[in-house]
Amino acid sequence: MELTDVIKKRKSVRSFQKIDVPNEILEEIIALARTSPSAGAIRGYKAIITKEKIVRIDAPVYLVICANPEAYVSRYGERGKNLYSIQDATIFGAYVQLLLVDGGLASVWIGAFREDKIKNTLNIEKHLKPIAIIALGHSL
Ligand SMILES: Cc1cc2nc3c(=O)[nH]c(=O)nc-3n(C[C@H](O)[C@H](O)[C@H](O)COP(=O)(O)O)c2cc1C
Repeated sequence: MELTDVIKKRKSVRSFQKIDVPNEILEEIIALARTSPSAGAIRGYKAIITKEKIVRIDAPVYLVICANPEAYVSRYGERGKNLYSIQDATIFGAYVQLLLVDGGLASVWIGAFREDKIKNTLNIEKHLKPIAIIALGHSL
């Protein structure tokens, strides 16, 4: 699909068909999205795939995007830790959402969640900070 068509087509979808999305497809999208720009090419974030319902919206898959602020400290100090780490993870997430559209899938960016609850539920490492959850699947 043309990039302009992908951009025009993307919209937040909050109702999904009960169809699984294979991990191989998700991993392909994640790998492509990781080519997004990143401060010092650090790419200090992690995308965790879960099919466990972790937010109010029902979706076959949730991608939990976590920033790793400490990964930026030695090179960029406080600015890297507090700003670049979040920007890198966010740009990555935006790429993911567009790639999902290109792959015939839909998603919504979820920012309203309890960080501590998500970390506990998914056993996320202490140094990682969940910054967004992308609920995704085939649009209803
Ligand atoms: C930082 C951020 C946080 C958001 N948090 C939520 C959320 O918690 N729940 C939700 O349903 N949508 C959330 N959204 C999606 C927005 O509501 C949505 O992008 C906006 O209404 C524009 O609609 P569109 O994406 O269809 O263009 C969030 C989007 C962003 C960028």
